[in-house]
Amino acid sequence: MDLKVLIDKEKLARRIKEMGREITEYYKGKTETIHTVCVLKGAIHFFSDLVENIDLNVEYSFIHVSSYSGMESTGRIRVKSWIDEPIEGKHVLVVEDILDTGQTLSYILGYLKRYNPKDLKVATLLKKSSKKPLVGADFIGFDIEDKFVVGYGLDFDEKFRNIPYIGYME
Ligand code: IMP
Ligand code: MG
Repeated sequence: MDLKVLIDKEKLARRIKEMGREITEYYKGKTETIHTVCVLKGAIHFFSDLVENIDLNVEYSFIHVSSYSGMESTGRIRVKSWIDEPIEGKHVLVVEDILDTGQTLSYILGYLKRYNPKDLKVATLLKKSSKKPLVGADFIGFDIEDKFVVGYGLDFDEKFRNIPYIGYME
């Protein structure tokens, strides 16, 4: 399958560095430590590059959820694993790969809120600009067209995750 480049490696790195600064700026004066929640599998590369650029103490949690089958969001969220540490009273930052309908994120946030974090924010690498998601993100890397994208963690039926740029199929 032929992939076209939407966002190349250099552009990703530049923007993620900037996002790290924006996030650091937001928390400075509020807390010295944040608790990040990486939403697997798609956010893995973004997460790892982003946390390197955050100048705070950063704790890690990983959750694994899925809602997509092929190119369609099924709307049914499956939780495959969940956070294993208390987040009550903490500054929590959820790190997502892409915000599409927002169903996945809305589900995740709904549950995380029950643990009474002090503050709950979301960073997403991509947001499809034509869509009006159920919930918003606080830090957004790129607004993109409504295309099905792959690479840098994002997959099409588990393929293309290891491609070092964001690409799309025509
Ligand atoms: P939502 O629940 O509709 O917002 O879908 C969010 C999840 O679906 C993301 O975390 C991705 O895992 C997946 N997803 C949405 N759009 C795309 C895409 O264009 N390419 C690959 N995965 C996508
Ligand atoms: Mg995802």
